[in-house]
Amino acid sequence: MIYFDNGATTFPKPPEVIYAVNSAMRDHGANPGRGGHKMSLKASEIIYGCRKKAAGLFGAGDPENIIFTVNCTTALNIVVKGLLKKGDHAVISSLEHNAVARPLESMKQSGVSYSIAEVFENDDEATLQSFRNAIRGNTKLVICTAASNVFGVMPPIERIAALCRIYNILFCVDAAQTAGVVPVNMKESGIDFLCTAGHKGLYGPMGTGILAINSNTLPDSLIQGGTGSMSSSLEQPDALPDKYESGTPNLPGIAGLSAGIDFVRRRGEERIFRDETAKARMLYNGLASIKDVTLYTLPPQTDTHAPVISFNIGEHDSESVAEMLDRRFNIAVRAGLHCAPLAHKAYGTTGQGTVRAVVSAYTKPAQIEYFLNSVKKITNLLPKKVAIKE
Ligand code: ALA
Repeated sequence: MIYFDNGATTFPKPPEVIYAVNSAMRDHGANPGRGGHKMSLKASEIIYGCRKKAAGLFGAGDPENIIFTVNCTTALNIVVKGLLKKGDHAVISSLEHNAVARPLESMKQSGVSYSIAEVFENDDEATLQSFRNAIRGNTKLVICTAASNVFGVMPPIERIAALCRIYNILFCVDAAQTAGVVPVNMKESGIDFLCTAGHKGLYGPMGTGILAINSNTLPDSLIQGGTGSMSSSLEQPDALPDKYESGTPNLPGIAGLSAGIDFVRRRGEERIFRDETAKARMLYNGLASIKDVTLYTLPPQTDTHAPVISFNIGEHDSESVAEMLDRRFNIAVRAGLHCAPLAHKAYGTTGQGTVRAVVSAYTKPAQIEYFLNSVKKITNLLPKKVAIKE
């Protein structure tokens, strides 16, 4: 399979990640933090090691500021539902994923409201102004994606963080598409919460996510239970990370994530970002030269875009194009709305969706050439006229 669905999850994973998952189960498969025996202590060590590496990667300070979750969605739910109370208002960007929009929509029932600030590609001033305009007296939280999972567009996160500081509003970044690719430093930038998946640019296994905290204002925890600490008390401990980490952790997943972060650090995020942008640009330029292909953004470059490319062929439904890429050419992409209807509304692609191709550290130039030749062939195979979807 020629894999371009790295926006959904990266594939393949580095061999050392697979080894670490296997070794955690084979050699250290005890319950971390729940026993004093050697194997349990080793398991705890693996988890602490991953916390330390993630805190270093995100500039989050102490390892305890790293909370392991099952995915990015869970981390975002903790921030939204744990912080916002009746009468509070939130601001989100026009590029947010349903992992942000749906929890907020559901919070309307609890008297929480939210507004959407438009992101202007390549006009940071205008983007900043739309965030400024959306802020109200009762705004408690701003959430912004570090990069659209559909179009790769990167809002000016540092400047939005600075704006939040001025207004004394908490700021949360959804780094699902950028962690491990686009460098970030929470402390230097003044980001209060950073949520990410562990299985995309961090190359860990699915079932891993991170909530990184750099704030004294802590969300309520959504679940309570055993933490292996303060067991005599019936109250949930307040200390991090135990406040949010009840129940047995995903040791094999976290061991793999730890090895994934090592992979990223060895290559260097800057280098990964540069290389992936060059590959995304090769894709973009090749697609731009194919008649009937529509692209929606400016060419990717490191200061404005993550390496995520969305396109369509004529008026054809994106799902049919993806199906042809899969069936005839053995190419994996994602098509449709990518769980991000707000972003599609902003770009006018709600009816057709888009075909999304995302590169990874493993994508080879020859695969990009094969991809472009396949798209060219598809444009010749598809009928020229189709009924436009309303
Ligand atoms: N949120 C993931 C994506 O963009 C799954 O495909």
